[in-house]
Amino acid sequence: MTKYIINGGRVLRGDVMISGSKNAVLPVLSATIINRGITTLTNCPDISDVRVTMDILENLGCKVRLTKNEFGNTIQVDATNVTSSTINADKACKCRSSVTFLGALTARLREANVAYPGGCTIGERPIDIHENALSDMGINTFRGDNFIKTQLPFTCRGEACTRNIYLKFPSVGATENSLMAAAGLADTVNIYGAATEPEIICLGNYLKELGAHIEGLGTGHIKVKGQLLYNKENVAFNIIPDRIEAATYLILAAGAGEKMKIHSTVAEHCKETVNVLKHMGCVFKEHKYTCGEQKLSVIELKEGAYKKRLNSPGIVVADAYPAFPTDAQSLLLPLLSVAEGETYVVDKIFPKRFNAAYELVKAGADIRRTAFGIKIRGKKSLKGCDLMSHDLRGGAAMVIAGVLANGQTCVFDDDFIKRGYDNMPGKLRALGASITECQNLS
Ligand code: UD1
Repeated sequence: MTKYIINGGRVLRGDVMISGSKNAVLPVLSATIINRGITTLTNCPDISDVRVTMDILENLGCKVRLTKNEFGNTIQVDATNVTSSTINADKACKCRSSVTFLGALTARLREANVAYPGGCTIGERPIDIHENALSDMGINTFRGDNFIKTQLPFTCRGEACTRNIYLKFPSVGATENSLMAAAGLADTVNIYGAATEPEIICLGNYLKELGAHIEGLGTGHIKVKGQLLYNKENVAFNIIPDRIEAATYLILAAGAGEKMKIHSTVAEHCKETVNVLKHMGCVFKEHKYTCGEQKLSVIELKEGAYKKRLNSPGIVVADAYPAFPTDAQSLLLPLLSVAEGETYVVDKIFPKRFNAAYELVKAGADIRRTAFGIKIRGKKSLKGCDLMSHDLRGGAAMVIAGVLANGQTCVFDDDFIKRGYDNMPGKLRALGASITECQNLS
């Protein structure tokens, strides 16, 4: 348990650098085992979900090394020898993305034995779409009390055919599993109803780098022509910036920033978050630049709540990309709680993801349940108090509330925030926030 003590009401100024994307690096780390060689990933965040995934890779037989670097860490995975197809519960339950090893292990070893995944408690998180997709590719899947198993029958290892799979919902994780499993088949696989998130494109680009033929990334129909064996000696790949971390600092800028610049973002990935904030009265300026082959942006806050109280955007609907992201929904709640007017918030991905909202009531927020989500009536300010973090983004939302509130806020966090944020307290302090971290509370 970590306690964050925040003295709120300070103005944020200066620059913040966005780290590599959590939700992109995790499936790419899983995918490194598909290739019998060494992958070097740059721009990796140093977060606990990454450390857990590195442990999983080591248990499977890989050699893994993280090198810290001020401008983004590097992870090297030597997957020349993958000796086990089993991921036990002690590791699998620590993060959601462990489920993507199902597709990756099946591609590499023709079988997987993965304990049920963990991750944030943000509503129901079944895996039926993953299982159906793998079955539709001809991969046998079995569900035990503790493990999900896959096995590629010998008939699928011979002559190539075309397989069509239909996802009943564009699940991010199921699309990732499908892409990885399909990359290990000689067949042509059409994935219909695929998710279009930037993290899917990132994973697809990594698989292309290995040698898989993939078309349609970023659309609802992805076509994969894989191969049974990948033998690329060295693969270098760069992870995209984290659009949810960017959303976190955009919201902080809107609520407490005067002059703030958010570096190393892909503006296109943050479009809907910026749109909502603009709708509330913020003004941002985008400065484009290139870094190697990447087109990046600095997003600069020109006007936010520091100048004039922000208005409610009326309604915010979290939905699949390119709509407003469900992961940023919790983050926005403290800002909506102090905006002028009423806001309705609906989450179409995780309809019950409102633990953060109910926690904010302790800080004085006026939030009520509605038939489809919640209704927030903006107050002039939030007050400092003790807040619990219930999940990763909910925890970050409590920190945002603390920064915006008057007085002292203590956020009690069961180390959710470290799962997804690289050095959040340090980045906030550099911007002028007063935040201290007391670790390992019993
Ligand atoms: C990923 C992200 C998470 C994000 C979410 C939605 C990672 C590690 N996590 O989670 O941060 O909030 O995408 O953008 O990348 N569903 C089913 N059956 C399934 C799978 C999903 O019914 O087999 C439902 C879920 O209950 C949920 C919706 O589909 O309501 C979306 O889930 P999904 O896109 O799969 O999210 P994750 O991949 O778990």
